[in-house]
Amino acid sequence: ESQSKVQLIQRCIRDFPDFPKKGIVFKDICPLLKDPAALTAVIDLFEEHVKKNHKQVDLIIGLDARGFLFGPLLAQRLGVGFVLVRKRGKLPGPTVSVAYALEYGEADAEIQEDAVFPGQKVLLIDDLLATGGTLYATCELIRKLQAEVLGCMVVIELKELHGADKLKPHSVFSLVQY
Ligand code: PRP
Ligand code: ADE
Repeated sequence: ESQSKVQLIQRCIRDFPDFPKKGIVFKDICPLLKDPAALTAVIDLFEEHVKKNHKQVDLIIGLDARGFLFGPLLAQRLGVGFVLVRKRGKLPGPTVSVAYALEYGEADAEIQEDAVFPGQKVLLIDDLLATGGTLYATCELIRKLQAEVLGCMVVIELKELHGADKLKPHSVFSLVQY
């Protein structure tokens, strides 16, 4: 059953070569968002994984911008809160930030200082793991707030870029691998 959900999701991911830069094969999730059954399958599989592997989850942390598409849906299913990690300059009030590089650029990740309390247990969610730069920076933010990363969850993992190695000892759960 979860195998057929994965297949449904796979069929809704398209490749666009040389976007946004030459040499990058961009994985487009727009068809996945447009297909209600496939989007439900994503959240079902995430929910199943969390219930099986994590006894206590305090918050889901979503990464700007495509992590925002899946994070709140999962948080609602689990009955927990959702917190934004944004690119720099978008969040009001006191924040902490970390600079990082990703597959095709660089940016700063930022979180509100009071968004996560010391000791809270959080799960990170994004659409895609490439080099791991973005999720690694987010782990740094959570560490600065003295909270605990339980693991990282993504729809798509680009295995050849070895992002999961960069994130060790944190675990990575992915639905579709290339
Ligand atoms: C993309 C993607 C991940 C990140 C993965 O985000 O949504 O967040 O890159 O790459 P990495 O593993 O090499 O860090 P992008 O910064 O393009 O932002 P967007 O979601 O706003 O399009
Ligand atoms: N973010 C980083 N690398 C990506 C890729 N190849 N496709 C879509 N989003 C990405």
